[in-house]
Amino acid sequence: MNQPAPTSQIEFWRGEFGHHYIGRNDANPTILRSLVALWTRILHSMQGAPPQSILEVGCNIGKNLRALRSVTGAKLLAVEPNSEARQIVLSDRVLEAADLYDATSSALPFADGQCDLVFTNTVLIHVHPDNLEQSYREIYRVSGRYIVTIEYFSDKLESINYRGHDNMLFKRDFGGLWLDLYPNLRLLDYGFAWKRLTQLDNVTWWAFEKC
Ligand SMILES: C[S@@+](CC[C@H](N)C(=O)[O-])C[C@H]1O[C@@H](n2cnc3c(N)ncnc32)[C@H](O)[C@@H]1O
Repeated sequence: MNQPAPTSQIEFWRGEFGHHYIGRNDANPTILRSLVALWTRILHSMQGAPPQSILEVGCNIGKNLRALRSVTGAKLLAVEPNSEARQIVLSDRVLEAADLYDATSSALPFADGQCDLVFTNTVLIHVHPDNLEQSYREIYRVSGRYIVTIEYFSDKLESINYRGHDNMLFKRDFGGLWLDLYPNLRLLDYGFAWKRLTQLDNVTWWAFEKC
Protein backbone atom coordinates (compact mmCIF):
# COMPACT_ATOMS: atom_id res chain seq x y z
CA MET A 1 0.00 0.00 0.00
CA ASN A 2 1.32 3.48 -0.89
CA GLN A 3 2.08 5.55 2.19
CA PRO A 4 0.46 9.02 2.21
CA ALA A 5 2.61 12.15 2.65
CA PRO A 6 3.73 12.23 6.29
CA THR A 7 1.85 14.54 8.63
CA SER A 8 3.82 16.88 10.92
CA GLN A 9 3.06 14.42 13.73
CA ILE A 10 4.67 11.55 11.80
CA GLU A 11 7.70 13.67 10.88
CA PHE A 12 8.04 14.47 14.59
CA TRP A 13 8.10 10.76 15.47
CA ARG A 14 10.44 9.79 12.63
CA GLY A 15 12.94 12.51 13.62
CA GLU A 16 15.01 13.58 16.64
CA PHE A 17 12.05 13.61 19.05
CA GLY A 18 11.26 10.01 18.17
CA HIS A 19 14.89 8.94 18.54
CA HIS A 20 15.15 10.54 21.99
CA TYR A 21 11.83 9.02 23.06
CA ILE A 22 13.37 5.55 22.71
CA GLY A 23 15.80 6.32 25.55
CA ARG A 24 12.89 7.28 27.80
CA ASN A 25 10.68 4.34 26.80
CA ASP A 26 11.70 2.06 29.58
CA ALA A 27 11.03 -1.68 29.34
CA ASN A 28 11.82 -2.26 33.04
CA PRO A 29 10.59 -5.43 34.80
CA THR A 30 7.74 -3.65 36.64
CA ILE A 31 6.35 -2.22 33.41
CA LEU A 32 6.70 -5.54 31.62
CA ARG A 33 4.95 -7.35 34.50
CA SER A 34 2.15 -4.77 34.35
CA LEU A 35 1.81 -5.25 30.60
CA VAL A 36 1.69 -9.02 31.06
CA ALA A 37 -1.12 -8.55 33.60
CA LEU A 38 -2.94 -6.11 31.31
CA TRP A 39 -2.71 -8.37 28.27
CA THR A 40 -3.72 -11.42 30.32
CA ARG A 41 -6.90 -9.58 31.26
CA ILE A 42 -7.54 -8.32 27.73
CA LEU A 43 -7.00 -11.75 26.16
CA HIS A 44 -9.24 -13.31 28.81
CA SER A 45 -12.11 -11.32 27.28
CA MET A 46 -11.41 -13.19 23.99
CA GLN A 47 -10.95 -16.64 25.50
CA GLY A 48 -13.80 -18.19 23.46
CA ALA A 49 -11.86 -17.48 20.25
CA PRO A 50 -8.32 -16.36 21.05
CA PRO A 51 -6.62 -14.28 18.34
CA GLN A 52 -4.13 -16.22 16.22
CA SER A 53 -2.52 -13.07 14.80
CA ILE A 54 -1.97 -9.74 16.58
CA LEU A 55 -0.86 -6.47 14.98
CA GLU A 56 0.54 -3.59 17.04
CA VAL A 57 0.28 -0.23 15.30
CA GLY A 58 3.16 1.95 16.57
CA CYS A 59 5.19 -0.58 18.57
CA ASN A 60 8.26 1.59 19.30
CA ILE A 61 10.78 -0.80 21.00
CA GLY A 62 8.11 -3.50 21.36
CA LYS A 63 7.20 -3.48 25.07
CA ASN A 64 3.68 -4.77 24.37
CA LEU A 65 5.01 -7.39 21.97
CA ARG A 66 7.54 -8.61 24.57
CA ALA A 67 4.72 -8.96 27.11
CA LEU A 68 2.40 -10.59 24.59
CA ARG A 69 5.06 -13.14 23.68
CA SER A 70 4.79 -14.57 27.20
CA VAL A 71 0.98 -14.85 27.24
CA THR A 72 0.01 -15.94 23.71
CA GLY A 73 1.31 -18.12 20.91
CA ALA A 74 -0.34 -15.83 18.33
CA LYS A 75 1.69 -14.58 15.38
CA LEU A 76 2.87 -11.06 16.22
CA LEU A 77 3.20 -8.26 13.65
CA ALA A 78 3.88 -4.55 13.96
CA VAL A 79 4.22 -1.26 12.15
CA GLU A 80 6.47 1.52 13.42
CA PRO A 81 7.56 4.71 11.59
CA ASN A 82 10.72 5.39 13.65
CA SER A 83 13.75 3.62 12.14
CA GLU A 84 15.80 3.41 15.37
CA ALA A 85 12.89 1.84 17.26
CA ARG A 86 12.46 -0.71 14.46
CA GLN A 87 16.16 -1.51 14.66
CA ILE A 88 15.86 -2.32 18.39
CA VAL A 89 12.82 -4.54 17.80
CA LEU A 90 14.90 -6.51 15.29
CA SER A 91 18.20 -6.59 17.19
CA ASP A 92 16.40 -7.72 20.37
CA ARG A 93 14.72 -10.40 18.24
CA VAL A 94 11.25 -9.30 19.31
CA LEU A 95 10.06 -9.76 15.70
CA GLU A 96 11.46 -11.11 12.45
CA ALA A 97 12.13 -8.44 9.79
CA ALA A 98 9.30 -9.84 7.63
CA ASP A 99 6.79 -9.07 10.39
CA LEU A 100 7.81 -5.46 11.05
CA TYR A 101 6.81 -2.65 8.67
CA ASP A 102 7.81 0.98 8.17
CA ALA A 103 4.24 2.29 8.03
CA THR A 104 1.66 4.30 9.96
CA SER A 105 -1.91 3.94 11.13
CA SER A 106 -3.24 5.89 8.17
CA ALA A 107 -2.14 3.25 5.61
CA LEU A 108 -1.63 -0.22 7.07
CA PRO A 109 0.15 -2.61 4.69
CA PHE A 110 -2.24 -5.53 5.26
CA ALA A 111 -5.24 -7.05 3.52
CA ASP A 112 -8.78 -6.58 4.82
CA GLY A 113 -9.31 -8.69 7.94
CA GLN A 114 -5.74 -10.04 7.85
CA CYS A 115 -5.00 -9.72 11.59
CA ASP A 116 -7.36 -11.21 14.17
CA LEU A 117 -6.53 -8.46 16.66
CA VAL A 118 -5.24 -4.95 15.92
CA PHE A 119 -4.23 -2.62 18.72
CA THR A 120 -2.60 0.66 19.65
CA ASN A 121 -1.05 1.71 22.94
CA THR A 122 -0.58 5.50 23.24
CA VAL A 123 -0.40 6.04 19.48
CA LEU A 124 -3.82 7.44 18.50
CA ILE A 125 -3.19 10.24 21.02
CA HIS A 126 -0.48 11.40 18.62
CA VAL A 127 -2.71 11.47 15.51
CA HIS A 128 -4.16 14.89 14.69
CA PRO A 129 -7.98 14.87 15.14
CA ASP A 130 -8.39 15.78 11.45
CA ASN A 131 -6.64 12.53 10.50
CA LEU A 132 -7.96 10.27 13.22
CA GLU A 133 -10.92 8.80 11.32
CA GLN A 134 -8.58 7.56 8.58
CA SER A 135 -6.59 5.66 11.23
CA TYR A 136 -9.81 4.22 12.65
CA ARG A 137 -10.85 3.14 9.14
CA GLU A 138 -7.53 1.39 8.58
CA ILE A 139 -7.49 -0.37 11.95
CA TYR A 140 -11.09 -1.50 11.42
CA ARG A 141 -10.32 -2.65 7.86
CA VAL A 142 -7.36 -4.89 8.72
CA SER A 143 -8.89 -6.29 11.91
CA GLY A 144 -10.42 -9.73 11.37
CA ARG A 145 -12.22 -9.77 14.70
CA TYR A 146 -10.84 -7.72 17.60
CA ILE A 147 -9.73 -4.13 18.18
CA VAL A 148 -7.95 -2.98 21.33
CA THR A 149 -7.32 0.70 22.02
CA ILE A 150 -5.12 1.76 24.95
CA GLU A 151 -4.91 5.56 25.10
CA TYR A 152 -5.31 8.64 27.32
CA PHE A 153 -8.96 9.35 28.13
CA SER A 154 -10.79 12.64 28.35
CA ASP A 155 -14.55 13.01 27.96
CA LYS A 156 -13.96 15.95 25.64
CA LEU A 157 -11.25 16.46 23.02
CA GLU A 158 -8.21 18.19 24.55
CA SER A 159 -4.91 19.18 22.98
CA ILE A 160 -2.12 18.79 25.55
CA ASN A 161 1.30 20.42 25.27
CA TYR A 162 3.69 17.46 24.91
CA ARG A 163 7.16 18.13 26.29
CA GLY A 164 7.06 21.70 24.92
CA HIS A 165 5.35 20.81 21.62
CA ASP A 166 1.85 21.89 20.60
CA ASN A 167 -0.44 19.78 18.40
CA MET A 168 1.36 16.53 19.21
CA LEU A 169 -0.88 14.99 21.87
CA PHE A 170 -4.68 14.80 21.99
CA LYS A 171 -6.82 13.18 24.67
CA ARG A 172 -10.42 12.17 24.06
CA ASP A 173 -12.91 9.34 24.49
CA PHE A 174 -11.24 7.00 21.99
CA GLY A 175 -13.53 4.09 22.98
CA GLY A 176 -16.64 6.21 22.45
CA LEU A 177 -15.40 7.21 19.01
CA TRP A 178 -15.16 3.52 18.04
CA LEU A 179 -18.81 2.98 18.95
CA ASP A 180 -19.90 6.20 17.23
CA LEU A 181 -18.16 5.27 13.97
CA TYR A 182 -18.82 1.50 14.06
CA PRO A 183 -22.00 0.73 16.05
CA ASN A 184 -21.60 -2.98 15.21
CA LEU A 185 -18.61 -3.20 17.57
CA ARG A 186 -19.35 -5.03 20.80
CA LEU A 187 -17.50 -3.99 23.94
CA LEU A 188 -15.79 -7.01 25.50
CA ASP A 189 -14.10 -5.26 28.41
CA TYR A 190 -12.48 -1.98 29.39
CA GLY A 191 -10.36 -0.66 32.22
CA PHE A 192 -7.76 1.72 33.55
CA ALA A 193 -4.07 1.16 34.35
CA TRP A 194 -3.21 3.33 37.32
CA LYS A 195 0.37 4.59 37.13
CA ARG A 196 0.88 4.50 40.88
CA LEU A 197 0.36 0.76 40.89
CA THR A 198 1.51 -0.33 37.43
CA GLN A 199 3.99 2.31 36.15
CA LEU A 200 1.84 2.29 32.99
CA ASP A 201 0.85 5.81 32.06
CA ASN A 202 -2.69 6.14 33.52
CA VAL A 203 -4.05 4.64 30.32
CA THR A 204 -7.67 3.70 29.63
CA TRP A 205 -8.23 0.62 27.47
CA TRP A 206 -11.13 -0.87 25.53
CA ALA A 207 -11.46 -4.29 23.86
CA PHE A 208 -14.01 -4.58 21.04
CA GLU A 209 -15.24 -7.40 18.82
CA LYS A 210 -16.65 -6.95 15.32
CA CYS A 211 -20.17 -8.38 15.15
C1 LIG B 1 4.15 6.92 22.87
S1 LIG B 1 4.91 5.77 21.79
C2 LIG B 1 4.11 4.25 22.25
C3 LIG B 1 4.88 3.04 21.82
C4 LIG B 1 4.29 1.67 22.15
N1 LIG B 1 2.97 1.51 21.60
C5 LIG B 1 4.30 1.40 23.63
O1 LIG B 1 3.21 1.20 24.21
O2 LIG B 1 5.40 1.36 24.20
C6 LIG B 1 4.21 6.14 20.23
C7 LIG B 1 4.83 5.32 19.10
O3 LIG B 1 3.96 5.35 17.99
C8 LIG B 1 4.67 5.72 16.83
N2 LIG B 1 3.69 6.48 16.04
C9 LIG B 1 3.34 7.79 16.16
N3 LIG B 1 2.34 8.09 15.32
C10 LIG B 1 2.04 6.93 14.65
C11 LIG B 1 1.08 6.57 13.67
N4 LIG B 1 0.22 7.46 13.18
N5 LIG B 1 1.07 5.29 13.22
C12 LIG B 1 1.91 4.37 13.72
N6 LIG B 1 2.83 4.66 14.66
C13 LIG B 1 2.90 5.91 15.12
C14 LIG B 1 5.86 6.52 17.31
O4 LIG B 1 6.94 6.46 16.40
C15 LIG B 1 6.16 5.82 18.64
O5 LIG B 1 7.04 4.75 18.47
